[in-house]
Amino acid sequence: MSPIEKIKQEIAQFTVDNREQLEQFRLHFLSKKSELQMLLGEIKNILPEKRKEFGQQVNDLKQTAQQYFEQCKEKIESKIVYSSHGEDITRPATVLELGSLHPISIVMDEVCKIFEKIGFSVVDGPEIEDDDHVFSALNFPEEHPARDMQDTFFIELRPDILLRTHTSSIQVRVMENEAPPIRVICPGRVYRNEVITARSHCFFHQVEALYIAEKVSFADMKQTLLYFAQQMFGSETKIRLRPSFFPFTEPSAEMDIACKICGGKGCTVCKHSGWVEILGCGMVHPNVLKNCGIDSTKYNGYAVGIGIERMTMLKYKINDIRLFFENDLRFLSQFSALSFK
Ligand code: DAH
Repeated sequence: MSPIEKIKQEIAQFTVDNREQLEQFRLHFLSKKSELQMLLGEIKNILPEKRKEFGQQVNDLKQTAQQYFEQCKEKIESKIVYSSHGEDITRPATVLELGSLHPISIVMDEVCKIFEKIGFSVVDGPEIEDDDHVFSALNFPEEHPARDMQDTFFIELRPDILLRTHTSSIQVRVMENEAPPIRVICPGRVYRNEVITARSHCFFHQVEALYIAEKVSFADMKQTLLYFAQQMFGSETKIRLRPSFFPFTEPSAEMDIACKICGGKGCTVCKHSGWVEILGCGMVHPNVLKNCGIDSTKYNGYAVGIGIERMTMLKYKINDIRLFFENDLRFLSQFSALSFK
């Protein structure tokens, strides 16, 4: 074996795990008195025709020794720990930015949790719906002007298919498939052909609540709504019901809460009335029960439709609905602390 080969092998077999071994390595291969250094001094004595090749080999060897030395030095000094496969297990992990829940999701979850506490269970339904579930079964007669209350996105090729305009369509699906008592809460996105402004958008979110059993009273509904408002906005929150019209409920009402921004004194948000509307509600119309195959002489109940954007805007004092859908991180990240409550 040539001296070069011998040194090469020695380097390969030399383990360096600490400072002492590192110094040993240096003395052995890189110091003035090392064998390798002697070989370097030898170059000039070699016959001219072999000198180039020999010089190259010795210099390569020196470079190998030097590189190995530097590598070991860095390893020891930075206390890097390598796994048995040679991966650096002390390297800091790549920083992954944590995402957070969207404010609409936060409030929608909160509404569902409040109702779940009193025995409601969460149900989902399709966003692409048919006319029957969105309108007809809910007692909107065909061609009736009540349909104009909800500007609808229809599909040209299939006029019977549409984007749901409210989550009330989920009530129908539940009643068609389940026997009373029914206690469900249905969150979801809805679509309307509306001009986009600070107060309205072409899609938004609702949570629908439905309770069907025997001898349910308007007072039951009112008490449930008071509980909901106080859980959502604080135990001092006042509510009021105003008579209204929806084809699927009779009697129908809209519920206001005393304005959270001005405390009921009057401001621009509540249009100086001291009250802000947050939901529609009423006793489910007997025609709707019948359309869904439920005996309306035995069962009755109430339904509630809660607008999520409006409530989120009130709760967090947001004055423009468009902010929710622009996905600007400067806006969204302000809700990150609430995501992990
Ligand atoms: N679906 C109604 C809307 O989007 C809201 C609504 C009102 C839902 C009264 C209800 C209700 O369940 O009882 O305008």
